[in-house]
Amino acid sequence: MLSHPVAEGAELRALEPWRAEEFYEFVVRSGSHLAPWMPWATDIDDVAKAALWLQGYADDQARDGRRVYGIWLDGLLVGGAGFATFDARTGNCSLGAWLAPEARGRGLVTRAVRLMTEWAFDTRGMSRVEWSAATGNIRSIAVAKRLGMEREGVLRSALTLGIRHDVEVWSLVTDGG
Ligand SMILES: CC(C)(COP(=O)(O)OP(=O)(O)OC[C@H]1O[C@@H](n2cnc3c(N)ncnc32)[C@H](O)[C@@H]1OP(=O)(O)O)[C@@H](O)C(=O)NCCC(=O)NCCS
Repeated sequence: MLSHPVAEGAELRALEPWRAEEFYEFVVRSGSHLAPWMPWATDIDDVAKAALWLQGYADDQARDGRRVYGIWLDGLLVGGAGFATFDARTGNCSLGAWLAPEARGRGLVTRAVRLMTEWAFDTRGMSRVEWSAATGNIRSIAVAKRLGMEREGVLRSALTLGIRHDVEVWSLVTDGG
C-alpha cells in the first residue's frame, strides 16, 4: 500500500523510517495534545528517536508483526494509526490511532481504522481486532463505538500515564462470539 484515500484531501500511507524528520515535526507540532494518552509523544524528543521508533515498527512489520501508518491531510502529516500488535498465527491484532487537534472531528481516524480492520479481516484472515482506551479517553472510546466494536470489559488500573488508569477493551471478532 503506497497510499490509500481516506477522505477528500486525506490519505493513509505507510509511515516508514525514511519519514523520520516529517514524523518528528508532527510530534513537535502536536505531541503535547497526544501526550496525555500516548507516552511516545513525550519520549520522542529528537529526530533520532523518531527514526528509532519508526524503525522498530519497520523491523516488526518485516516479521509480519505490528505496523504503523500516517494520515496526511492536504499533504501535511496530521496523525496516524497502527497495529500495536499483529499476530497472524493466532489471528489476533490490536489497533491505536492519533490525530492533531486541527484534524479531529472529520472522521479521518474512524475511516482509516475501518480500512485497516477490513484489511486485517478480509485480506489477512484475522479473527479479532482489539481497541483499548483509558476509561477517561472519551474520543477514543467514541471511535470504537463508531466502528461497531463491542465493549468487553475493563482492565482495572492497567495503564500508567502519570497516574494509573482503568482501560476499556473493545473488539470486533469474525465469529461474532
Ligand atoms: C482518538 C482520536 C484519534 C479521535 O479523533 P476524532 O477526530 O474524534 O475521531 P475521527 O477522526 O474518527 O472523527 C470523528 C468525528 O468526526 C465526525 N465525522 C465527520 N464525518 C465523519 C465520517 N464520515 N465518519 C465518521 N465520523 C465523522 C464525527 O461525528 C466525530 O465528531 P464528534 O466527535 O464531534 O462527534 C483523537 O481524539 C486523538 O488523537 N486523541 C489523542 C490520542 C488518543 O487518545 N488516541 C487513542 C488511543 S487508542
